[in-house]
Amino acid sequence: MSWLESGPSSAPRVIVWLHAFPLSSAMWTRQLEAMPDGWRSIAPDLAGLGQTVDHAGTPLIEDFARDVDALMSTLGVESAVIAGLSMGGYTALALHRVAPARIAGLILADTKSTADSPQAKAGREEMLKVVEARGAGGVADEMMPKLLGRTSQASRPEVSATVRGLIQSNTPTGIARAVKRLRDRPDSTPQLASIAVPTLVLNGEEDVIISVDDARALATGIAGATLSVLPASGHLANLETPDAFNAAVLTWLGTLPGARA
Ligand code: MLT
Repeated sequence: MSWLESGPSSAPRVIVWLHAFPLSSAMWTRQLEAMPDGWRSIAPDLAGLGQTVDHAGTPLIEDFARDVDALMSTLGVESAVIAGLSMGGYTALALHRVAPARIAGLILADTKSTADSPQAKAGREEMLKVVEARGAGGVADEMMPKLLGRTSQASRPEVSATVRGLIQSNTPTGIARAVKRLRDRPDSTPQLASIAVPTLVLNGEEDVIISVDDARALATGIAGATLSVLPASGHLANLETPDAFNAAVLTWLGTLPGARA
């Protein structure tokens, strides 16, 4: 498994950043740089993406979660704030199923609890055909218009270039297996009521993959969750408006019991 880190391993508090599809840990660079003293950040590449080797056998979203659980053991981290964006959020909810004690707090960004609708599953089949026929570049062509909000598409060419580069550094096989994990993930909605850790739900206002209504439904399902909507930001809110994203995260971290954010 491959991961990025910032902050000393002796830091009293830990945050684990879980990336979106079809990107990698490198999407969190601006967040790793922004964390204050007292925090250690760990951003893994999820299986088959970035530099992390995939599992054998049927791909499941729980593979990602079990890897996070194992990585935390390896790094001597008992529990952490788990921050996941989109697929990373699905993974955070899968971790809540397989190893809930690992979660001291949750940041769920541009994500939702529901499973794929029949229409979304059909879209996954189309994406599998794109990966097979046109590779990671074809996936980037298909996804870029949806991943970035209209403001970023109009005025943030550097973000487009970064995202395209991250997508194209993944292998077609890794992307295809991630598509299957997304397609087959279960509905996490029934478990929301049992989430008893502080939770921040963040969403880009211009996100066309996960609507603000989806984010609101997620926040409503988790007792005490805070919802923050980021203007001029799309699905990849942490990359599109990193300063606003970081400010929302740091403000919320500062509200946690015993926080020094
Ligand atoms: C992501 O950003 O991780 C994906 O868009 C999630 C999805 O397609 O459901």
